[in-house]
Amino acid sequence: MGVVLAAAGSAVGLGNVWRFPTEVGYNGGAAFILIYLFNVILIGMPVMISEFVVGRHTHANTITAYAKLALRSWWRFEGVAGVFVAFLILSYYVVISGWTLFYLVDSLSGFLPVEQDFQSEFNSFVSHPWLPVAYACGFMAMTHWVVSCGVQSGIERFSKVLMPLLLIIIAVLVGCSFSLPGAHDGLRFLLKPDFTKVTTRVVLSAMGQAFFSLSIAMGCLCTYASYFKDETRLARTAFNVSIIDTMVAILSGFIIFPAVFSVPGVEVDAGPGLVFITLPNVFHMTFSSYPVMGYIFSVLFYMLLLLAALTSAISLHESVTAYVLEATGMSRRTAAAIVSVSCMLLGVACSLSFGPWSDFKVFGMSIFDLFDFTASKVIMPLSGIVICLFVGWKLDRNMVRDEITNHGTLRFRLFSTYIFLIRYVVPAVIALVFVNELLG
Ligand code: PHE
Repeated sequence: MGVVLAAAGSAVGLGNVWRFPTEVGYNGGAAFILIYLFNVILIGMPVMISEFVVGRHTHANTITAYAKLALRSWWRFEGVAGVFVAFLILSYYVVISGWTLFYLVDSLSGFLPVEQDFQSEFNSFVSHPWLPVAYACGFMAMTHWVVSCGVQSGIERFSKVLMPLLLIIIAVLVGCSFSLPGAHDGLRFLLKPDFTKVTTRVVLSAMGQAFFSLSIAMGCLCTYASYFKDETRLARTAFNVSIIDTMVAILSGFIIFPAVFSVPGVEVDAGPGLVFITLPNVFHMTFSSYPVMGYIFSVLFYMLLLLAALTSAISLHESVTAYVLEATGMSRRTAAAIVSVSCMLLGVACSLSFGPWSDFKVFGMSIFDLFDFTASKVIMPLSGIVICLFVGWKLDRNMVRDEITNHGTLRFRLFSTYIFLIRYVVPAVIALVFVNELLG
């Protein structure tokens, strides 16, 4: 139960509450969401099951897992790609998590005075020369602490209580958002698809978002699956994690967009700041006659968001640390410290790309956007293809069946569909979208 919750903890994070609405805003609303759902079912779940198979069968960290199964062939580089991309994501994940930490501190100190301009407050915070860097370091220190102490007793116990609490808070916030004046327009944006705006870039974004949000194709779930018990049902776990994750993402959309359409001056494609500008506004507008409620809600919300971010960051950190630790034989503490410090160096660059370094562009993207693009739109899709081909073609079919059916004690009627998907459909779909985008 604990490790399954940890897998859900890894999946549910800023990807759902912060990145999903941002992407929906950029990519035109309802049509994007439909394509996203399609990606979760058709691509996300099969890839997740495949990672579980590799992880639980080998009971080893990602790099060792692929090395064990692939022996000396090229397939073993899949493990290396996984660990690399986890490192890359962690470097910018801490930046946004740092923002969350700032908003928590800010709401604790009562940041909901009447008439506040949240947009300028956000802009002046993220472009500040050192403040966001300091908060990112603070968040990294928390992640470091948990990882270097070992994860089991602390974070697993916490997740069991906090994840349901997060869901309850989200549900209440949806209610609040629905009562705002722009609710109708927000719902139309979320529910009425306009397929004329769909381009391959939109499809690739939906795919990248599905990979990011489900934490797949970067070794985290493979590492966690290596701790699964023999009785853990892989397919069912993948299904449950995907459902919880998708639900949280969509509900977050239902919180954000009615609010976006209610707040003058905020555009749906406002980018990474969207959540940090509209949410304080929701608290402010809905609770203007009950400031205490507004206070409690904002504190609770940012606290839970921070914890959700923490469980995800831990899985990213753990995936890299586990490898460094095994490859070098050093202590867990030292390995974790090396990962934290080196990752933070990249994190500083990401953070500064919102402020003093915002004019520095590579291929027209800021450092932050470049990292996110490379991780979620290049490496993750390619990794997804390799994982599917590896499990579908290279691994012994009976071994895969044994893992998924727990040595024949479970029935998995969709086994041949699953194999068909990972052998042909998933790699073909990913490749098609990817190549199309490159050529376009
Ligand atoms: N899925 C996490 C989220 O939604 C982010 C993450 C990505 C975590 C990759 C681990 C691995 O925030």
